[in-house]
Amino acid sequence: MFKTLLEDYRSCFARDPAARNPIEVLVCYSGLHAIVGYRLSHWLWTHHLKLIARLFSQCIRWMTGIEIHPGAKIGSGFFIDHGMGVVIGETTEIGHNVTLYQGVTLGGVSWKKEKRHPTLEDEVVVGGGAMVLGPIVVGHHSRIGAGSVLVKDVPPHSTVVGVPGRVVHRRTEDEEEGVLRHDLLPDPEMAAIESLVHRVAALEERIKKNE
Ligand SMILES: CC(C)(COP(=O)(O)OP(=O)(O)OC[C@H]1O[C@@H](n2cnc3c(N)ncnc32)[C@H](O)[C@@H]1OP(=O)(O)O)[C@@H](O)C(=O)NCCC(=O)NCCS
Repeated sequence: MFKTLLEDYRSCFARDPAARNPIEVLVCYSGLHAIVGYRLSHWLWTHHLKLIARLFSQCIRWMTGIEIHPGAKIGSGFFIDHGMGVVIGETTEIGHNVTLYQGVTLGGVSWKKEKRHPTLEDEVVVGGGAMVLGPIVVGHHSRIGAGSVLVKDVPPHSTVVGVPGRVVHRRTEDEEEGVLRHDLLPDPEMAAIESLVHRVAALEERIKKNE
């Protein structure tokens, strides 16, 4: 658990340019406080101390304004920026290096005791105030725009915005990595030559018809 907490702590510096020094982050980042509280309450939850886990999680909610059910499963490098108003339901599953902003709901749409909350794969970012509802899967490296309401699965590397959320852009893995694909760069000279070849062929055709 210590290694996971260390990665959560490091993610504050990696994903918030406003984070200046370790003491400031430890004392002032309520997102970090909520995650540390969640890691402890999840441990209690999985060791058959469910009521104590819920009570502890409620205390963290009073302190931070962030409600994470102890039954949720969350990978390392989790970062909640600002945090107030975040709600994460019991059957939510979150991969590694996921980022949430304030007011995000990862909520259920069913009252049945079954998987009813979303699954967020690795490296997903969910913008402020967005709602991700139901047992849907948000593919890895996707970005959910601030204020969106998402109710359907999203493929990896997507940008989703609006109500209901729609995919407006899909990045390639190379774009994600910032890799420049030289084999896909435009070649203006070849394009000009190809255009001339086509025009010559068309002119030859017309001359043949006139002869
Ligand atoms: C969605 C987001 C992640 C940008 O992702 P991106 O892949 O870089 O997408 P782009 O900026 O290229 O935008 C794609 C299109 O969606 C639109 N768009 C972006 N965010 C939007 C939003 N939240 N709601 C509606 N439309 C949005 C853009 O205007 C653009 O439209 P266009 O193609 O007609 O020009 C970003 O806009 C966002 O909402 N981030 C959340 C940040 C946040 O909550 N910060 C809180 C800090 S306190």
